[in-house]
Amino acid sequence: MSNPASKNNSAAATLARHSTDPSTSASAITPAKIDWQMDDTGNKVPVSGEFGDVYFSHADGLAESRYVFLAHNQLAERLTNLAPNQCFSIAELGLGTGLNLLATWQLWRALREMHPHLATAKLHFITTEKHPIPLTDITQILALWAQRAPELSALIEQFLAAYPPLIAGCHRLRFFDDNLTVDIWLGDAADSLTKLALDTSLRSVPYIDAWYLDGFAPSCNSTLWAENIFAQIQRLSRSGTTAATYSCAGIVKRALKDCGFEIKKVKGFGRKREMLTAIVPMPTDLADDNSNAHDHANNRAADSTHTVIIGAGVSGLLTAWSLANRGIKVTLTDKSAPLAGASGNPRALLAPKMTPIHHVDEHLHSIGYLYSSRLYQTLNDKATQQQLAPVLEPTGALDLLIKANIGTEQIADYPDEMATTLSLPQAQSISGLTAQDLTENLYLPQSGLVNPHALKDIILSHPLIQFQQIDVYDISETAQTATIKGNDQANNTVSLDADNVVICAAFESHKLDRRIFDCRKIRGQLSWFTPTTAELTNLPKVPLKYSGYCAPFTAHAGDNELNDVVEGATHLLLGASFVRNDTGTDIRDEEHQISREKLVTAIPELAAVIPTDTSLWHGRAGIRTQTPDYHPMVGLLVDSKRLWTMSAMGAKGYALAPICAEALADMMLGSFAPLSAAMLARLSPNRTRLQTPLT
Ligand SMILES: Cc1cc2nc3c(=O)[nH]c(=O)nc-3n(C[C@H](O)[C@H](O)[C@H](O)COP(=O)(O)OP(=O)(O)OC[C@H]3O[C@@H](n4cnc5c(N)ncnc54)[C@H](O)[C@@H]3O)c2cc1C
Ligand SMILES: C[S@@+](CC[C@H](N)C(=O)[O-])C[C@H]1O[C@@H](n2cnc3c(N)ncnc32)[C@H](O)[C@@H]1O
Repeated sequence: MSNPASKNNSAAATLARHSTDPSTSASAITPAKIDWQMDDTGNKVPVSGEFGDVYFSHADGLAESRYVFLAHNQLAERLTNLAPNQCFSIAELGLGTGLNLLATWQLWRALREMHPHLATAKLHFITTEKHPIPLTDITQILALWAQRAPELSALIEQFLAAYPPLIAGCHRLRFFDDNLTVDIWLGDAADSLTKLALDTSLRSVPYIDAWYLDGFAPSCNSTLWAENIFAQIQRLSRSGTTAATYSCAGIVKRALKDCGFEIKKVKGFGRKREMLTAIVPMPTDLADDNSNAHDHANNRAADSTHTVIIGAGVSGLLTAWSLANRGIKVTLTDKSAPLAGASGNPRALLAPKMTPIHHVDEHLHSIGYLYSSRLYQTLNDKATQQQLAPVLEPTGALDLLIKANIGTEQIADYPDEMATTLSLPQAQSISGLTAQDLTENLYLPQSGLVNPHALKDIILSHPLIQFQQIDVYDISETAQTATIKGNDQANNTVSLDADNVVICAAFESHKLDRRIFDCRKIRGQLSWFTPTTAELTNLPKVPLKYSGYCAPFTAHAGDNELNDVVEGATHLLLGASFVRNDTGTDIRDEEHQISREKLVTAIPELAAVIPTDTSLWHGRAGIRTQTPDYHPMVGLLVDSKRLWTMSAMGAKGYALAPICAEALADMMLGSFAPLSAAMLARLSPNRTRLQTPLT
């Protein structure tokens, strides 16, 4: 594999390649160049090579962070006063080394340990960074902090484990045990803030509670103190929002005042004479109350405590997970059982549709893939604790680029940890193929096989999620509540009230509410067989993508609840057929043959290994749900306040559902979504493209 230094050069080359076209250059990331200096006490401290300024104070960066940003946004007091389920949102300009984030996280953890009433409160930390520090450098920087401040060391470890590849766009990190969400928006801060969606048609509209204005000194870098940044600060703030900065420069004072903040100069950290704190004044009737009365009044989650979800495929399960982790009680329903529909395959391949890197920041498949692989790995830790099979088997995957919309030159623009091209010997050794021309390939190190059964078990073990078998036939809403009606297992009529209902019924969603687009239905059959020991030695060793995909997998305990597999045995999975306008789910021998044919046409050396007699093969057929523009549907139904949908995941539900569920839960509860406003508009169930029925 190419070394990281050459990738940095390649990122710079990408920037150069796109720099003639301003519309594309914005999404290429130039990583930070770190120089080192000695601070006042002889510690090594990082300095920005681009801007020639320090990331944090040479006196004591951590103490300065706590003083300037935490104390002068009154965080300890405001976080302590959060109501149950309430979410507090912080926005930072300049993630840098992550020191402010770590200091905030540590305070939050300590407060939650001290105050049991904070058990369900949440912290959302949104940060921006134009020149992210490469993982090797930030690891070195934070290793020094772990020594100097051992109270941060456990958090540093978790942060580094989740540190995203240096790709433009929003990277959501979820730290479930701490009720902490961190959104790292890589790219220019003004662009990123512009992308945060404020949809005023929703019941709860998000806003930022506290700003950390931590750009380099205005004299070194004016971009974080520019008019377009303050315009966004104004757009995203409400009365009661505070801001803090070490800078007392005239332009900062003027800009904060112009966007509605009352500013105050206070003593600066250490030897610094002064710094600024600021607040958007409260309405006079609330101004005298020094508790969080205002925040309580704006508790965006306060009127949502129970949601009913219809459909327990990957869309319904992940929506339940996102809501339950925000303190919402969920009744998850399905007319038959969890994973009864398209989601119940023995394994799903987690692999992205790739795009040239200059589109990546707005590319749902890439954002979804990166978030999913991070989430599933987190769930693997939970699976280990619960002695369950792993949710994601991190096999990696090799794409032979037979049906791909990206070539090796464009793959080279990506950081290796997301996508790379292997040398021929590496590709041969990883895949086990010997005769195939593998000179052109795409290797996805974070790809793997998702075990739907394990995912379902973990999600259903959440104490706030309860599964009920109900075949729903009616949904209604009033100003106060939403109601579903249906038949339970014993065919009794049941009715459930909730604050919100989410329809995740895939291709049948429109039957439950006619406002939902009646999508294209594409039948697919997945096939598998149990190879002999001799066959096994010649079969691919990792998942391969061509015009279809194949993957070896070993069945775990419980997998046979959903499918005809033998626990402990290795099987070869082949996918999949595509039959339009067919909702039959019978198993068809001709579709086993189609999948076999796809494989041996792409990889002729396997013709001798894959049996031609498919009579002993097993299969599962499901229906893919697809919109005409290929985007899922995620959002509130038109003219409704309480009825939502998340559906039309097409052929990539396991890559798309986790990030879509996060976006949906954020919209429902008044937090900032990890997708841009433009992307949310593209996913809207009410978008123009869905106004014309399929012919
Ligand atoms: C053969 C095949 C292979 C695939 N391979 C992959 C892969 O490798 N990787 C990947 O990411 N994706 C893959 N996909 C796509 C993926 O399976 C889908 O995108 C995903 O399953 C969609 O999930 P869903 O929850 O939206 O729908 P479903 O899983 O279909 O769930 C919908 C649920 O709604 C329930 N329901 C419907 N009506 C009602 C009602 N009235 N009341 C109550 N419940 C109701 C149904 O019973 C069903 O359980 C594949 C799909 C197929 C068909
Ligand atoms: C003083 S440092 C931030 C230190 C950081 N908060 C910490 O805890 O280490 C300023 C950061 O702003 C980033 N930056 C500079 N210009 C930017 C821009 N236009 N958009 C986003 N980030 C920017 C720099 O790369 C740098 O990491």
